[in-house]
Amino acid sequence: MSIVSYQLIDNIGVIQLNNPPVNALSQALRQGLQQAITAAQNDSSQALVLICEGRTFIAGADISEFGKPPSSPSLGEMLTSIEDSQKPVIAAIHGTALGGGFETALACHYRCAAATAKVGLPEVKLGLLPGAGGTQRTPRLAGVEVALELITSGNPIGALQAEQAGLIDRVVDGDLLEGALAYARELVADAAPLRRVRDITIDTATVPAELFDNYKTKLARRARGQIAPLHIVSCVEAAVELPFEEGLKCERERFMECMQSTQSGAMRHMFFAEREAAKIKGLDRGTATREINSVAVIGGGTMGGGIAMNFANVGIPVKLLEISDEALQRGLGIIEKNYGITVSKGKLSETQKEHCLSLIDGTTNYDDLADVDLVIEAVFENLDIKKQVFSQLDSACKPGAILATNTSYQDVDLIAAATRRPADVIGLHFFSPANVMKLLEVVRGEKTSDEVIATTMKLAKTIRKVPVLSRVCYGFIGNRMLRHYAREAQLCLIEGSTPERIDTVMQNWGMAMGPLAVGDLAGMDIAYNARKALTDEQKGNPKTYCIPDALVEMGRLGQKSGAGYYNYDAKTRARSSDVGVIQLVEEKAAAQGVARREINDEEILNRLIFALINEGAKILEEGIAQRPGDIDVVYAFGYGFPVSRGGPMHYADTVGLQKVYDTLNQFHQQTGEAYWQPAALLEELVSAGKTFKEWAS
Ligand code: 3HC
Ligand code: NAI
Repeated sequence: MSIVSYQLIDNIGVIQLNNPPVNALSQALRQGLQQAITAAQNDSSQALVLICEGRTFIAGADISEFGKPPSSPSLGEMLTSIEDSQKPVIAAIHGTALGGGFETALACHYRCAAATAKVGLPEVKLGLLPGAGGTQRTPRLAGVEVALELITSGNPIGALQAEQAGLIDRVVDGDLLEGALAYARELVADAAPLRRVRDITIDTATVPAELFDNYKTKLARRARGQIAPLHIVSCVEAAVELPFEEGLKCERERFMECMQSTQSGAMRHMFFAEREAAKIKGLDRGTATREINSVAVIGGGTMGGGIAMNFANVGIPVKLLEISDEALQRGLGIIEKNYGITVSKGKLSETQKEHCLSLIDGTTNYDDLADVDLVIEAVFENLDIKKQVFSQLDSACKPGAILATNTSYQDVDLIAAATRRPADVIGLHFFSPANVMKLLEVVRGEKTSDEVIATTMKLAKTIRKVPVLSRVCYGFIGNRMLRHYAREAQLCLIEGSTPERIDTVMQNWGMAMGPLAVGDLAGMDIAYNARKALTDEQKGNPKTYCIPDALVEMGRLGQKSGAGYYNYDAKTRARSSDVGVIQLVEEKAAAQGVARREINDEEILNRLIFALINEGAKILEEGIAQRPGDIDVVYAFGYGFPVSRGGPMHYADTVGLQKVYDTLNQFHQQTGEAYWQPAALLEELVSAGKTFKEWAS
């Protein structure tokens, strides 16, 4: 079937697009659609319906064409042909009409949609703004406030909401083509005018004074350094103040600026990296997967409760096994409380909460796990306990059940060896809070079967996680790298900086939180207790842990005790610095023989981020991660790394690997520490003049 087809059904011309998987607006599609519109002007049709084959209406411009030389017709030219049509064009939307796809619908004279359809302008999530009239036509139809919210958030809305906002004219029940044809016939019968959105004037009286300035102030805080959101507000402002053509010109200029920015380059990289991470090298596409219709979680603590919620949220029943009735009741209580919070935020109804809770069933008996398809263990981080749990699971669970561990650091192969079915054992490393964080590290052991890998990668999507495959090593991809980042934060602190300065530098750069504030949020006692189990040699350089050890021993565990690196207001949780902490840091520095000095922002940033990059390169060299983009996905979805910088490995490419390499060498010379020795892969790429991206492709 050709990419654009045309047929006359009675007096209605039907233009059908078929460009799988998502009908993206490639050059061929733009050309075919424009030709179809032009040709239809001269036939016997009285109206035209634009509809798509496959799973969705047009999901946007073809992102893979961005950054390449423009090819004709441009999207803008094609949309002008649609809007100029002398016969009404009716968009018939199903699936998701996104970005350029929704802009195409907005250039049509009327829009109908299936009730399940969604529409939106998600360009901001790619560091862009709608570049084909979206910022000009949306406020003309829906008003300025709806337009600002839709375009700056990038979140799609459902057809019914879009109808209420004036963005959709009719919601169709039943067959979409039938409904669209009936609507088109009605419009013809009523001699409905060619409703060109560009000709609508926005009544300035409906636009509150200061609206745009207030929006910009709000966004400047939320978007933290991103350029697209502020440009969007300016474009919508232009839609109010300027004639359509001039507004379009303003939009075009700002779109091009965004398109050429490193921010958008990074965000587009993240879009494709996230999707690529789901693909497993060397695994046959046809690998069978197992059905997962029931799950058990072992341990109902911080992680186990959140993990159980993920499954209940998508209707999969969960058995939660705890060590005692008391621990079980505590775990179930926390789950109920967490659902209650979601209800109070208006994100879940009381009925939905009850339904989810009814799917979580507590037990203390392994016999109750005989029929489950998947078990996820989330007991204490202790190898012996985990081995014992796996040996019990091996006896209790049916053949073919997948046995997974949520361990953060333990060797998945050793855990698998505690069973007679290591091929069915895998790591499923969730991030805290497990019902919120999107990342799921899927850790394949030496003996894990392809079927188990394929099943768990697929399951991750079912529970709305972003999976990344890792091989076994201490800390897997994310936590192994994090140790180096955290080490540098500690060293910067003892060598001369302050918690406030380090956190501010990292946050201003784009990290969701600074490293020391994260320590306070997570609770410093966790790492403290883990360190207690280590030998001095395993603990490494005391300069990297003497300060948090002392804080914990002073009862400063972090936010939960009201104080850690910072003091926290009991009511507002607002943080403030504590001179006592600075004194402690100075004392510890003196005790360690460190002469404190001024450490500038660039040094803080480079030490923390380049430490991540160097370890990331080693992880690639050892084949722990499949590709650099996978590491970027881990950091963006699990550690609050700014998407607009594209993850540590993409960021390294944008900085230039030569610069990264030279700086690492400089740190190595200054400190003599082996960990600053540039990774062999980095050295190889620098001498070949290649980037991580080029190495991966
Ligand atoms: N361009 C090119 N490829 C695209 C694409 C696009 N706009 N949207 C999706 N794809 C590709 C994906 O890379 C993936 O390829 P793969 O199978 O080789 O990995 C395939 O289509 C399927 O995508 P998903 O795995 O994401 O499928 P889902 O069913 O989960 O989701 C979707 C479908 C909701 C449409 C989702 O793909 C999506 O959000 N796409 C991006 C939408 C978007 O951002 N549109 C705006 C583009 S920018 C623009 O239009 C600028 C304009 O204003 C000028
Ligand atoms: P936790 O201490 O909050 O919960 C552990 C639970 O396991 C407790 O409720 C305990 O009663 C139960 N338990 C202990 N032994 C058991 C047994 N033999 N059988 C059944 N239940 C048992 O611990 P948390 O934080 O939930 O961690 C669990 C696992 O998840 C650990 O392996 C940890 O490394 C990992 N993890 C923790 C993260 C975190 O941020 N807390 C993040 C990612 C992974």
